[in-house]
Amino acid sequence: MIHLTINKQLIGDSDYGLKGETDMNLKGSKTYENLMRAFAGESMARNRYNIASAIAKQEGFHVVGAVFDYTADQERAHAKVFYQKLKYFAGDNIYISGAYPVDLYDDTVKALRAAQHNELEEWDEVYKSFGQTAREEGFPDIAHTFEGIAKIEKTHADRFGRLADEIENASIFRKEDEIAWMCTVCGNIHVGKEAPQICDVCQHPQGFFMPFAESFYEK
Ligand SMILES: [Fe+2]
Ligand SMILES: [Fe+2]
Repeated sequence: MIHLTINKQLIGDSDYGLKGETDMNLKGSKTYENLMRAFAGESMARNRYNIASAIAKQEGFHVVGAVFDYTADQERAHAKVFYQKLKYFAGDNIYISGAYPVDLYDDTVKALRAAQHNELEEWDEVYKSFGQTAREEGFPDIAHTFEGIAKIEKTHADRFGRLADEIENASIFRKEDEIAWMCTVCGNIHVGKEAPQICDVCQHPQGFFMPFAESFYEK
């Protein structure tokens, strides 16, 4: 199910509850560098998704674009959680090296597949190993954070993958059975196998429709 914030003001980004909690023994450890690597990776993911969002919207997949933006906001939240753990070292410069992907495609499915691939890599390799290293180095709280965010990245991968599947098999706007479709602009509900070409209330095109059951405020 795709739960997305239609109204960003209602959820969006928040500083609520974030406190500085730095382990002062971090300096010189691998985890010290891994936190900065994670901050860099999350920051780039956020920008990649905002850029991919524009591509999806250009191709008419407005809800997919909204999912990219929504996920970008979550990557920003991840970046902040990692960054906060370095707060004690304000003023430091941390040298890191790493490989980062060029995922610029003029194609929504390719952008979704690239995003899915990167999220799976973060979940299955990068954050798992960062978590393990943090545990070995004696930073169990940071290990817990890496492991928690790794699990989130898996949900991101699954969500991007499902959307790519739906575009590829032409089921994103057409289902086998009748369902309720919601226009994400005005809230108009249309019941049918296919989302309408144009919303008969606000005139926005099909790309703004999503299954009502998957919308954020369905009840
Ligand atoms: Fe993330
Ligand atoms: Fe993610």
